[in-house]
Amino acid sequence: MPSTTADHITTPSHSSSFNLRSVQSDESRICVVMVGLPARGKSLIAGKAMRYLAWVGIPAKVFNVGTYRRSNTPQPQATFFDPHNEEGERMRRAAAESAVSDMINWFHDDESKGVVAILDATNSTKERRKWIFEKCRDADIETLFVESICDDEDLIMNNILEVKTDSPDYKGQDPELAALDFRKRIRNYEKAYETIDDNEKQYTYVKLINVGSTVIINQIKDYLSSRLVYYIQNLHIKPRSIWLSRHGESEYNLTGKIGGDSNISERGEAYARALPSLLRKSGVPPNTKIVIWTSTLKRTIQTARHLKAETGFEKLEWKALDELDSGVCDSLTYEEIADKYPEDFKARDDDKYNYRYRGGESYRDVVIRLEPIIMELERSENVIIVTHQAVLRCIYSYFLNVPQEKSPWMEVPLHTLIKLTPRAYGTEEKRFKADIPAVSTWRGRGLLRSIRSFPLRGRRMRRVLDGLVAFVGVGVVGLNGFIGGSSIPKYCNFEL
Ligand code: ATP
Ligand code: F6P
Repeated sequence: MPSTTADHITTPSHSSSFNLRSVQSDESRICVVMVGLPARGKSLIAGKAMRYLAWVGIPAKVFNVGTYRRSNTPQPQATFFDPHNEEGERMRRAAAESAVSDMINWFHDDESKGVVAILDATNSTKERRKWIFEKCRDADIETLFVESICDDEDLIMNNILEVKTDSPDYKGQDPELAALDFRKRIRNYEKAYETIDDNEKQYTYVKLINVGSTVIINQIKDYLSSRLVYYIQNLHIKPRSIWLSRHGESEYNLTGKIGGDSNISERGEAYARALPSLLRKSGVPPNTKIVIWTSTLKRTIQTARHLKAETGFEKLEWKALDELDSGVCDSLTYEEIADKYPEDFKARDDDKYNYRYRGGESYRDVVIRLEPIIMELERSENVIIVTHQAVLRCIYSYFLNVPQEKSPWMEVPLHTLIKLTPRAYGTEEKRFKADIPAVSTWRGRGLLRSIRSFPLRGRRMRRVLDGLVAFVGVGVVGLNGFIGGSSIPKYCNFEL
């Protein structure tokens, strides 16, 4: 239970947690330079790294050289990429120069406050890497080269069919011909490709061989680079899903209190019993092992109890998954908080992401303590996480790229299972609502309160409204699909 004593009011909780932003010197800027032949997952890695950085609050941007090239040569044939094609070489170099110049301007622009740029291109020759290194060095930007090497022909063919035939480079063309042309494009790149070797030991680099089955790391100097490398080396592309659920309705939810460590209600228990079948209904391939993660609070453990008993899946309890600590406001209702701490109540409405409860946490604090959870999730395969409203919003926002100012206001209803399936350039989402009513704990800004605080109070009215919410939601299976997002390209972008 959070402390409510006055001497804790100004003490930020979890102050010992890693905070990527605060340990990073104001001056440091990093250019992550992707390296590798086409269809080696460079854009996927760049997009994910970008999403991770945005989530932890680090200003980052991907500069995709293929996008620059496309403005002059939208649908080139494989011969364009032949190193002996002088005109092709000239145009490819011009596109790289434009991208690097925009990137350097972005770093120096006071408004963007850029910290990490990701230069997404093949950068497949020593000469090109030397040129980028020197351009960055002269502009006071560190470089981190990330090379993806893959010699698994089946995987490369899969990659081509999965993302390349759909790209703007082949829009409107026959997918089979597009795949053939793409193979030829790769052959042309192979003529000039030079892997990073011992003669480039002066660079900071990481080489990922066959999706991280071997990783070679050279000269990582700063904390942010080491976090990035750790993140990137844990990425995998095995098919899997991540399920998210809040705990079943709790006794505190019924009375409108926040925080605490109450038991689940009768309806919460009904949800706990329904969870195994809801999970099955969501689509679990035969013989799939799923690991159950809960917080250390009673309501999530009780919610996962039947799931664990029926499936025998391994279960882990994480302190980091405990609900946002509401400090002195713990065990109060929103109405009581508004009465007792009106200034805090308004401050939270004004900037919910950054507002830190007295003696408790902000959403920003929760994201920082969830960072190891995200790292572990990236390493893991199928996981079902039973957690709390604020924590679930933060985890969901990482996968669906929800901006910080929106994430604390998202609706994540009780008694609903969210299934997230990572795809090449985004995350597919499906929601499965159990046919078990529950109160709504969502509260909008100002007077837009949760249902329980409407003027017509009283148990009967609340029950009618809760029933209505449950009725409207029953049986809904939605497909929210892919997120466009600025950092996760919907299409593959080709490199020069
Ligand atoms: P291009 O140079 O043409 O832009 P690319 O290297 O950027 O190609 P992506 O567009 O990112 O390649 O390819 C995405 C595909 O690569 C996805 O199908 C994904 O599953 C797969 N992939 C992701 N990571 C790796 C990896 N480390 N090695 C090989 N394939 C990967
Ligand atoms: O009301 C349920 C709950 O999980 C509380 O314990 C917690 O303080 C709150 O939701 C977080 O939601 P919000 O940030 O919208 O107040």
